[in-house]
Parts: sequence; C-alpha cells; structure tokens
Amino acid sequence: MTLPSFKMDSIVLMEDGPCTFAGYPRTARHTIVHTMNVSPPDLASWAASLIHSRRTALPKRLCAPGPDGAQKHQILEAAAAAPDHDQILPWRFVEVPEPSRTALGLAFEEALITRDPSASEEERSQARDKALRSPWLLLAVVRTGGEPLDIPAPERLLSAGAAIQNMLLMAAAMGLGSSLTSGKALSSTALRTLFNLSAHEQALCFLNFGHIAQARQERTRPRVAQYFSTLPSN
Ligand SMILES: Cc1cc2nc3c(=O)[nH]c(=O)nc-3n(C[C@H](O)[C@H](O)[C@H](O)COP(=O)(O)O)c2cc1C
Repeated sequence: MTLPSFKMDSIVLMEDGPCTFAGYPRTARHTIVHTMNVSPPDLASWAASLIHSRRTALPKRLCAPGPDGAQKHQILEAAAAAPDHDQILPWRFVEVPEPSRTALGLAFEEALITRDPSASEEERSQARDKALRSPWLLLAVVRTGGEPLDIPAPERLLSAGAAIQNMLLMAAAMGLGSSLTSGKALSSTALRTLFNLSAHEQALCFLNFGHIAQARQERTRPRVAQYFSTLPSN
C-alpha cells in the first residue's frame, strides 16, 4: 500500500509540537486530521500502512547514507512522544559516530575475550567489525532503578520500548531501514565503561538506521486471536 504524500513536517511545525498533544485542546487525531487535511479513515489506514510496512533491516542489509541531520532530529523527537509514567524520562540514546566506532569495536572484542579467553583471531575480528556496519548507530540506555522508587523497572522498560518503536516507525515513514541489535556485550564491563553507564542504567540494545540495500521477505505476523482474549464476567 502506498503512503499518502503529505509532508510529515506538517506535524512538527504545529504551534504545540507533536509531543504535547495531551495538553492540546483538541485530540491528537483531530489535530492531525486538520493539520494534514486528511480524513479520519485515511489517517487510520495511513497509520496501519506505516505500522505494517516496517520491517527489520539488519546492519548487513543497510547502506549509507544514514539519515541526514534533520531526519536524525525528527527520529529522536519521535521518542519523546512515548508514554512515560510521571515523566521521569527513564531512557536515553547515545550516538556512536564514525570516529568512535573503533573504540566500540574494541569494547566488543574485550567483552568476547572476557567471556571466552580462547576466542580465535577471526572471532575477535568479527566482534570488532560489528561496530562498523550501521550507517547511523545509537545505543539505547534505560535507567531501571533509583528515584523515583514507585516507578518500577518494567514500566521504565515499556516506556523505552515505546520510544524505540516510535523511532523505528518514523524512520520507516522516511523510507529508511532500521533494526535493533543486542548481544552479550551489552552487559559487559567494557561496554558499560565505554558508555559511562551509571549503576542504575542498562544498555538495552543498539538501534541501526540507514538506507535499505537489500529488502527482506514478508514476515508472517501473529494473528490477533493468538494474543487477545476477554476476561470472562462470570
Ligand atoms: C531488543 C531487541 C533486540 C534484538 N536484537 C537482535 C539481534 O541482535 N539480531 C537479530 O538478528 N535480531 C534481533 N532482534 C530481532 C529483530 O529486531 C526483529 O524484531 C526480528 O528480526 C523480526 O523482524 P521484524 O522486525 O521485521 O518483524 C532484536 C529484537 C529486539 C526487540
């Protein structure tokens, strides 16, 4: 399905910005419908089209250029629209620019050697190379503990997940590919030290963005009946 050709910028240029809809006198939907001059059914089908068009493009399937400066900003702004109980901002994103990729690669290698001191030179080289593939690379960091104590880790993680999904969808709307990558190195001392993580912070995953060099096949999605039920009323 083709997406309507309106400009996503029209959301951002609104007086209140897209992240403060809750305080806006009209509903977000009402505002978007008017700002973009699209009918409500169009908006729903546009949203469905965007959501279902997103596919993971792993770093090996991404190519340069990554997003430009304005696109990076718009992707990062999308994170701010995530639900965040009491607005504690429990997550942050750290960009890993080209000059820092060698240091990240060395951290991946150190994490590997710590886990497996007998790792071969080939395995070590593969670990280092993982830092080089993505055109735009971010580390997602979540603060799972500390003040305020009444917002537990699962809520903070959910907020981070919502922020990340917003970013992936924004990239998809721009025609960019994206993916999440993880691995044992995320919890390693080498990586924690490189990113200067505090005691309450966890490295959640890497976010990769770029142009899609090689598209993937459609993926079969779960059916609603597999994950939806209704509480019996007795
Ligand atoms: C937090 C997180 C980390 C992930 N890390 C990896 C990874 O390191 N390598 C990988 O191949 N897939 C990883 N995945 C899975 C892909 O991101 C993706 O969800 C999966 O391939 C399904 O593709 P789709 O997003 O197109 O449905 C991860 C998913 C999540 C949620």
